[in-house]
Order: sequence, then C-alpha cells, then structure tokens
Amino acid sequence: MRIIEAMESNVRGYVRSFPAVFKSAKGAQLTDASGTEYLDFFAGAGTLNYGHNNEKISKALIEYLQNDGIVHGLDMATLAKTEFMQKFKDVILEPRNLEYKMQFTGPTGTNSVETALKLARMIKGRSNIVAFTNAYHGLTMGSLGVTGNSFYRDEAHISRCNVSFMPFENYYGNDIDTLKIFRKHLEDPSSGLDSSAAVIVETVQAEGGIHAASPEWLKGLEEICREFDMLLIIDDIQVGNGRTGDFFSFEEAGITPDMVTLSKSIGGGLPLAILLFRPELDQWKPGEHTGTFRGNNLAFVASTQALSYWENDDLSKAVKYKSKILKDRLEKISLETAGYSTDVRGRGMIYGLEFCEPGFASEISMKCFEKGLVIELAGADDQVVKFLPPLTIAEEELLEGLDIFEEAVKELVQEKENRLHEAF
Ligand SMILES: Cc1ncc(COP(=O)(O)O)c(C=O)c1O
Repeated sequence: MRIIEAMESNVRGYVRSFPAVFKSAKGAQLTDASGTEYLDFFAGAGTLNYGHNNEKISKALIEYLQNDGIVHGLDMATLAKTEFMQKFKDVILEPRNLEYKMQFTGPTGTNSVETALKLARMIKGRSNIVAFTNAYHGLTMGSLGVTGNSFYRDEAHISRCNVSFMPFENYYGNDIDTLKIFRKHLEDPSSGLDSSAAVIVETVQAEGGIHAASPEWLKGLEEICREFDMLLIIDDIQVGNGRTGDFFSFEEAGITPDMVTLSKSIGGGLPLAILLFRPELDQWKPGEHTGTFRGNNLAFVASTQALSYWENDDLSKAVKYKSKILKDRLEKISLETAGYSTDVRGRGMIYGLEFCEPGFASEISMKCFEKGLVIELAGADDQVVKFLPPLTIAEEELLEGLDIFEEAVKELVQEKENRLHEAF
C-alpha cells in the first residue's frame, strides 16, 4: 500500500474506501494479500455481473490466448468479433425483436455516451440535449455536461452548456408529475428550453442515489420524445446486462429507445463499450468517429461466453428471485432502524438504503469492510448504501452479506444511541 500512497495521485478513490491489497477473486469473493476474504457487493460498479473469474469466461480467454488469437485489431474483422456480433444478434436482439446497428466505441462507458450525444446532435442538427436531475453518464466533457452532480461538474472549468436538466420521476416527491413539467417546457415557446436533439436517461439512476423510474414514466417519456422529435437515448451502462432481471433495463417498460449505451458487464469483466442505434440513424461517414481501442478482442471472447447466460431465462429468474430477498431484507432493516434509514429503493439486483444523517452511510460501509463486506455508496451526498452484488452470487452468500450489513447498521445505531444517552 505504501507505493500507492507515495506515488498514486490524490484522485484515487475506492482504494481509500477499501484499504486492502487484493490478490485474487472468484465469484462474489475477494481475497487480499494477507488471505483475508471479503464478500463483494460492489461488483466493479456493475462490471462483474457474472462474477470474478467466471469459470466459462476464464477458460475461453486462456484458450484464446494459448491459440495466439488476435488481441488488438483496431476495428478490423476478427473471428472473436464476428462470433460475438452473431451471438449478440441471435441471443439478445432477435428474441426481443430489436433491430439495432452496433458501433464499437472506445472501451469505457463514457466513450459510448460521447458517441451517442455526437451522433444525435449530428442527425438532428441541434446542439441541445435534455438530461435529468441526479443523472450520471461519465466524466469526459460531453458526458459531464449531462451529469448532474456538482462535485464532478464544478472541477471542469469549461463550458458544460447545450444541456437542459429536467426533473427525474419523483424529484419533487411522488405527488408531482415531472413529465407534465417537461411537457409544459416543450409546449411553451417562452420556457427557455431550446429544441433538443435527444433525451438521455438511466432507467435506474445508479450513481445518483438509486432512483428507479416506473414503467409508466418511461413510457410517457418515450411518447414525449416521439411527439417532440427528440431521440431517446437509454444509458444502460450500469443497469443493463441483466441487472434489473431482463437483459435490457427498459424491457419491462415496453419501450424501444433510438439509442442504447452499453458498457461495464457487456465485456464480461473486460473493457468494452458499444452504442446500439436504429439502422436509419447510421449516418456516419466511414472512419468519421474513430479511436485506437475500439472493440477489445479479449472482451469479445469474454462477452460471447457471458451471453450464453441469456440463451435461456435461468439467470433472469434467479435475478428476480434474489431481488425479492434483497428488497424484503432491506425493508425489514429499514423498519427496524427507522429514524436513521429513510428509504429503500431499487429494482432487480440494484438496491439502495438511504440514511438521513450525513456520514452515516460511509460509517456503515467502513464497518462492513472491517467485517468482510465490500459495499459502496451512491447519491449526491453519499447518503445511500448501494447493493450491487454479482448477479451470479449464491443465495447463501447474499444472505451472509446482508447479515454483515444488518449487524453493522445495528451496531452503529446502538453507538449513536449510547452517545445520545451519555450527552443527556
Ligand atoms: C449510467 C452510467 N453511464 C456512464 C458511466 C460511465 O462509465 P465509465 O466510468 O466506464 O466511463 C457510468 C459509470 O458508472 C454509469 O453508471
């Protein structure tokens, strides 16, 4: 750890929350250099939906490397790429009656978001984009423009304009219809809202504090996009790839986005980002939006294996089953710690438990870590403990992690109560 403290920039983050030197990992288990084991309820911020070192994925990668498979090929055709594309078409798109073109962008999520915004602006010939309060779409300039949190925005010291923010569902509480507000702005030529190329939205705002939009809200948003000629971009980087129980998070709402951004778990744990869009939107000239690392061949190999999970509905059913365990348990803990925890929110296997006292959630995360559970925070003030285990986690491990969490919360509540009593 001394080399990290001495040499790595102050910008480092997760290493501060989880101060261990990790050595190996399998499924939902992490092991540090001293042999201490941890349960992973963070899953690489949604990159490890299929678990660490997934057996099938690791085996395919080792074989591919042993056979001198192409590792880097720019966007040239490789067998790894064609097999991946065919599988994505057969297993994901066709069974859902989705017809999308695929663009391989640079390897991280923000590359896919940048590409979507650029293409939407180019197609519509309009600069403005509509984003939502509490949105998180990445931190390169275009993506930062559509990200809400001032902690990230303020450091940029550069124009973050050409974006209008509208309130996400329930932003003002559940009795105010935020789509009505959006519609009013669109209809009123004096609202100050410029006509926009696209709307970008997460169906479940993850980093923003686990806010899940209802199917009705998403359906209403799609209608507004059609009526006012704006493209609908769903950012499925964190909650796609099965996180909500279906492969795409928007399936439940029955909507068909014009564009979909995918990254994180689409690479089966390796860097890969893709933009999907309706074929009519493919208005690029050859090579017009390029880059060195587009289509990571090792990630194609990993992803082709990961997509096998979607050849039947076993994983989808398992996510829905474990979702109920997660939700029920968090609701119980929330009830038992009322006055400290204020809300349980989520869908599928992404859930958040919100705490009202500043710093409370981070104290819990630290306590959990000491007890062998890696769990992260979300929300503008890090006030939400975020549950994001691998989708493949065993039920016993899920329960074990929830036990650790419950013990940590109750201990902390007890410590606070004791301090209160001492003060009086
Ligand atoms: C919804 C969403 N969009 C975009 C991004 C940015 O992805 P990356 O960090 O890989 O650039 C993230 C990252 O957490 C995300 O959750």
